[in-house]
Amino acid sequence: MVDVLLGMQWGDEGKGKIVDFFAPHYDIIARFQGGPNAGHTLYIKGEKIVLHQIPSGIFHENTTNLIGNGVVLDAVTLKKEFDKVASFGVDGKKNLYIAERTHLILPTHRALDKASELSKGNEKIGSTLKGIGPAYMDKTGRNGLRVGDLLDKNFTTQYIKLRLKHQRILDSFGFNEDITEWEEEFFEAIEFLRSLKIVNGEYFINEKISAGKKVLAEGAQGSMLDVDFGTFPFVTSSNTISAGVCTGLGIAPQKIKEVIGVTKAYCTRVGSGPFPTELHDETGERLRKVGNEFGATTGRPRRCGWIDLVALNFACMINGVTQLVMTKADVLDAFEELYACTSYGIEGKQQKMVPYQMTKLPIIPFLERHKGWQMDITSIKNSESLPEEMKQYIHFINEYLGVPITYISNGPEREQIIKA
Ligand code: GDP
Ligand code: IMO
Ligand code: MG
Repeated sequence: MVDVLLGMQWGDEGKGKIVDFFAPHYDIIARFQGGPNAGHTLYIKGEKIVLHQIPSGIFHENTTNLIGNGVVLDAVTLKKEFDKVASFGVDGKKNLYIAERTHLILPTHRALDKASELSKGNEKIGSTLKGIGPAYMDKTGRNGLRVGDLLDKNFTTQYIKLRLKHQRILDSFGFNEDITEWEEEFFEAIEFLRSLKIVNGEYFINEKISAGKKVLAEGAQGSMLDVDFGTFPFVTSSNTISAGVCTGLGIAPQKIKEVIGVTKAYCTRVGSGPFPTELHDETGERLRKVGNEFGATTGRPRRCGWIDLVALNFACMINGVTQLVMTKADVLDAFEELYACTSYGIEGKQQKMVPYQMTKLPIIPFLERHKGWQMDITSIKNSESLPEEMKQYIHFINEYLGVPITYISNGPEREQIIKA
């Protein structure tokens, strides 16, 4: 049996915290897409850690963690992350498995990402510059190198061949930064990667499922960053939605049971691209300040705005969401009034559908006003104690989406979560 947990917005919904909270109910936590562009924040005994490559189940002794074939893996980041989790007393080597079909991010992929973004000027995507796009391009372009190739004695020859190809593209961009240091780090890190548990991911996970083990597939990024259904071209390069679980782990669709969508009580986006409910005023600034909205991977300030129910409804549809977790509800504690976008105004018409092209036509969000609860909810433990205005806000969202909010997160700590 497989449940899926994924982001409903433009990433950073708090997936890491929620996976860590749910992990004790699962035998395996598996990442199925994305790479070190992800930054999943966890608080372990009051101390913060951000995970980029390692699944968020790593702090649970009895949980197996799998990096699935759909991920793009940066060995350098992974190696550094092992040191980070070790400082929390966790031996990453014990419970982490890596699928041999997982594609590798090479130093030249990072260079290509940078060169490509620089060449776009004002139209840049705002990539995390981790080499994600070029690594996935080499996967679909049938050039990439995979974790399994590391065990082949010809790996270095294959690497040099691909590097030459990349060099020609870099030359055409006029990119001439020295990446020797990146390469040195890379070769050191792949030596380390070779010492880890590299498995045939699809057999590994299907055998576990047949033996009755419970799997939680951990999404990275968010549904609106999906390469097919997000705000293209301002998206990432993988399928972030529930469909990505099948291809990213090698499991059949009928094995998937619950699809848990994580959404903030408001909305954020980091990087470029359309964001209909974005606030450019002091309210946006207030959300950023109270919510501490700065990127976990790049430190960039996140753009902030009200919750967008049109986009959320779309994400529920595309993912087949069965339940929602609302995070960062406490960030709204002091707000006198809240707004929720219930439809888009495009070319003078009101609609509840996400359009094909969000970048070309201006979208005016139709906002519905709600009374704020103006109360500190951070130590509330059960839903009965939640303020009435908040219950109404939650009820309104449930009704609009037709999907229940089953948990409300009221702070960054593991224990700060309420069953709705
Ligand atoms: P992810 O990428 O979806 O895992 O999310 P990030 O870790 O990038 O960003 C979420 C941020 O919000 C992190 O700093 C979390 O510690 C924090 N966070 C998560 N849930 C809550 C919550 O309910 N309340 C507050 N105040 N912060 C939260
Ligand atoms: P988590 O898992 C928020 C954004 C980037 C950029 C676009 C493309 O922490 O939610 P990429 O590096 O993939 O080429 O960047 O996607 N982006 C994220 N935004 N959270 C993330 O991950 C993101 N991963 C990528 O900012 O706009
Ligand atoms: Mg994040």
